[in-house]
Amino acid sequence: KSILLINGPNLNLLGTREPHIYGHTTLADVESNSREVAASHGAILESFQSNHEGAIVDRIQAARGKVDGIIINPGAYTHTSVAIRDALLGVAIPFIELHVSNVHAREPWRHHSYFSDKAAGIIVGLGVYGYKVAVEHVCVNFVEKEK
Ligand code: DQA
Repeated sequence: KSILLINGPNLNLLGTREPHIYGHTTLADVESNSREVAASHGAILESFQSNHEGAIVDRIQAARGKVDGIIINPGAYTHTSVAIRDALLGVAIPFIELHVSNVHAREPWRHHSYFSDKAAGIIVGLGVYGYKVAVEHVCVNFVEKEK
């Protein structure tokens, strides 16, 4: 029962980056809270952050056959990356797409995502609380169902 949390470029700056948009909670806090929520459901959560597209592709490929669900905030790659989309489809692991901010209330070029039509679910604009919702959803609906 294993979950992989992936955060893309600039999300290592969470908590200090444009706090009026992304809030004050750090990525370290998000990752440790997510691990605790998963543990309370008897699941193991691993987290990964990278600013590099290829590194994210490599991490997704390494999860093949080992992970029940992926939660991914692709950051700016949301709007550009066919490669990360293809990696997720290639490993056939169900995934939740997550954005801290409401991308639909921002610049028009943030409205398109290369992930949304393939995601099991999308969480947008709930701030870092979205990560908790995503982990709980994956635990209850992806992981526990397989028991
Ligand atoms: C983001 C939204 C993206 O448009 C942006 O490039 C990010 C973060 C979010 O979490 O709201 O880096 O994915």
